[in-house]
Amino acid sequence: MPNLFRKKAVAYEDADYGLRKVLSAFDLTVLGIGAIIGTGIFVLSGHAAATQSGPAVVLSFIVAGVACAFAALSYAELAASVGGCGSAYGYSYAAFGELIAWIIAWDLILEYGVSVAAVANGWSGYFNNALTAIGVGLPDAYTKGPFAGGVINIPAIVIILILMMLLIIGVKETARINAAAVTIKLLAVAIFIGVAIFNVHPENWTPFVPFGWFSYDSAGQPVGVFAGASLVFFAYVGFDAVSTAVEEARNPQRDVPIGILAALGFCTLLYIIVSALMTGIVPYTALNVSSPASEALLRIGHNTAAGIVATGVIFGLTTVMLVLYYGLTRIITGVSRDGLLPPYFSVVNEKTKTPVRTTVLTGVVMAIMAGLIPLGVLAELVNIGTLAAFVLVCGGIIVLRRSHPDMPRPFKMPFGTVFATLGIISCGALIAFLPYETHLRFLIWLAVGLIIYFTYSVKHSRLAVA
Ligand code: ALA
Repeated sequence: MPNLFRKKAVAYEDADYGLRKVLSAFDLTVLGIGAIIGTGIFVLSGHAAATQSGPAVVLSFIVAGVACAFAALSYAELAASVGGCGSAYGYSYAAFGELIAWIIAWDLILEYGVSVAAVANGWSGYFNNALTAIGVGLPDAYTKGPFAGGVINIPAIVIILILMMLLIIGVKETARINAAAVTIKLLAVAIFIGVAIFNVHPENWTPFVPFGWFSYDSAGQPVGVFAGASLVFFAYVGFDAVSTAVEEARNPQRDVPIGILAALGFCTLLYIIVSALMTGIVPYTALNVSSPASEALLRIGHNTAAGIVATGVIFGLTTVMLVLYYGLTRIITGVSRDGLLPPYFSVVNEKTKTPVRTTVLTGVVMAIMAGLIPLGVLAELVNIGTLAAFVLVCGGIIVLRRSHPDMPRPFKMPFGTVFATLGIISCGALIAFLPYETHLRFLIWLAVGLIIYFTYSVKHSRLAVA
């Protein structure tokens, strides 16, 4: 019987696998913002306000943001001290051993892969709205999958294939295009804030907590501020992507913690402002639409601003997909190098210095998913996978502080054990507030992961062969 808890040595891993080390702290922060601001604030905020939280959606954002802050601090400490590729996966390999590390990797593949497909779906909706506005909209049959009343979602497929080409060309080019798109996205947010701030009607904030803090509706679905927090948690998914760029950072031990914390802090602040304004300019009941930010501006008569914001959202969603897709390929590459997935996945192309095979294979799988499967269910699956990974990352802080108290920690999170415990409790609570079906689907995903582990990974692990 192999040792399922065999561990990698805890020593800062900074090996050179042929990827270019070009990203600065600023690049990493922009990479994080690129991954974070997207569907969560531009689409799910309205849905959560209308059906879960009311104007108190701002509190849902704060609750989810606090849970993420504990996880982000844990990520920052581990990224600086353990390093290595593959983000949370690498840290757990050292802290908990192989089996848990594999489960985290499997969670992260769910988080990143399914997010890209889900966001591509949302992107397709906005894109088709833009086409419709200039008179060349596509019919429903080609913008929706078979479970949503169409045949296939062609724009969602095409955008993923375009991003695939970008990622193949190379990482510095990707970071540059990402920076340009992030600027446009932030301008759109600034225009929304600039217009909305002068049109707030405080009566829209009453009642502030119409669905209470937490209960179940007649259909047995969770509602209230906490259930809303579990949903809008999606808005924060992606800050951990900064840690997957560790091998391509110039000075990872200093810059990766800066990138993670700066990106999360900045986005949390924006979310609080935008969600408060959105529910302040129109009644929360009007926000259950696919483009709540521009819909709210339309309703108060600012049509041009609504059009500009919608265009910015199209760019915003593109950067989210780009960074998450990037993170996905780097995680799979790392897991494959450790032998838990076949070596086929970790080959870096000599010319482009990027993992071309993994990029193409995952791109094709995600394009098929995005073309056929609708968005709603996928977002919740992403959340549960991500939250489970966060719980384990916070646990990693506690374990490593005990087992390796003297390990160099260039960044040390304050109140380490206390904050890590609060992270476990808060992320665990957000898991509990998700619907029952999501728990079930997640268990199925985990079961598939365990089958792969016990039929392939356990025999081919680099630690087994060594
Ligand atoms: N945080 C990302 C979004 O909101 C995944 O779209």
